[in-house]
Amino acid sequence: MILVTGASGQLGRRIVQWLSVRLPEGGAGKLAVSVRDPARVDVAARGIEVRHGNFDRRETLSAAFAGVECLVLVSTAGPEDACIARHCNAIEAAAAAGVRRVCYTSFLDADAKSPSAFARMHAAAEADLAASGLACTVLRSGLYGDFLPMKFAAALRTGALRLPAGDGKVSYLSRNELAEAIAAAAVAPRLEKQTYELTGQTAHDYRDLAARVAAAVGKTLRYEAVLSGAPVESFEAGDMPAATARVLAPLYASIAGNRVARTTNDFAALVGHPPKSIDCLVAEFFRAPRA
Ligand SMILES: NC(=O)c1ccc[n+]([C@@H]2O[C@H](COP(=O)([O-])OP(=O)(O)OC[C@H]3O[C@@H](n4cnc5c(N)ncnc54)[C@H](OP(=O)(O)O)[C@@H]3O)[C@@H](O)[C@H]2O)c1
Repeated sequence: MILVTGASGQLGRRIVQWLSVRLPEGGAGKLAVSVRDPARVDVAARGIEVRHGNFDRRETLSAAFAGVECLVLVSTAGPEDACIARHCNAIEAAAAAGVRRVCYTSFLDADAKSPSAFARMHAAAEADLAASGLACTVLRSGLYGDFLPMKFAAALRTGALRLPAGDGKVSYLSRNELAEAIAAAAVAPRLEKQTYELTGQTAHDYRDLAARVAAAVGKTLRYEAVLSGAPVESFEAGDMPAATARVLAPLYASIAGNRVARTTNDFAALVGHPPKSIDCLVAEFFRAPRA
């Protein structure tokens, strides 16, 4: 049985959809999800088992992971220490439950020395997985293109995209593409390697991205690099809750340092075709649907 955690979330839900496409009979009897609130998922009617599991409550996880062969462990978000503790709980519970393989959704910049807390917490989870002795497939993802509209919301009003990202490049791909690749990894009978880096086809700095978005929406946009370490109020103002913006700010230091700029062929190796081009993603996320 394959069990997907975080199936009430945006990525986990899509992973379940792609697994349903790949597994016989839509995964009925072979696929399960574990969520904090079973009322928030509606897959039981399709024969997908719904279990309760909360990484903050270790006592819930032995039942959640019982009988699971492949655990698709979708990372959580939040304060660095809380995420590290949660993911550690889930990995220890998977080992105790006799899970055969864990597919972990990591981050392209997973590195204990990264300026970004997200990157450091993913590095900690990868280290915990390695120490657990569990067979694992680490799926490091690039940045979600799905967040581009939020990133550009203020710029589309003011004409200026102000970010502390310097000339750093990003190899964006969409959340749905990531889910497709993660599902492919989970069902693969054999994989060539342990760590896959899921990236877009090409990497682009924000000057380039601003030009592409401007062309797609028919507006003029310029990119202004804000000084690294500048207060969050000086960029993305008004588009994001201040607390979220403060958490995200160090991510721009990663971007400025080209830590999420790599491009690989790993997506195609898992899925069988390349990810969408950046212009395709921009069209998907910015162009108004035709009447
Ligand atoms: N590469 C990128 O650009 C990027 C961007 C954003 C996030 N991420 C990472 O990718 C992950 C998935 O993204 P997403 O868009 O699907 O986020 P999401 O919609 O917020 O989903 C996160 C999932 O984690 C679950 N979760 C939270 N705390 C939990 C706990 N204590 N125990 C068990 N499950 C818990 C949530 O459950 P509830 O529904 O019960 O809250 C939800 O299902 C994020 O959590 C983050 O680590 C990557």
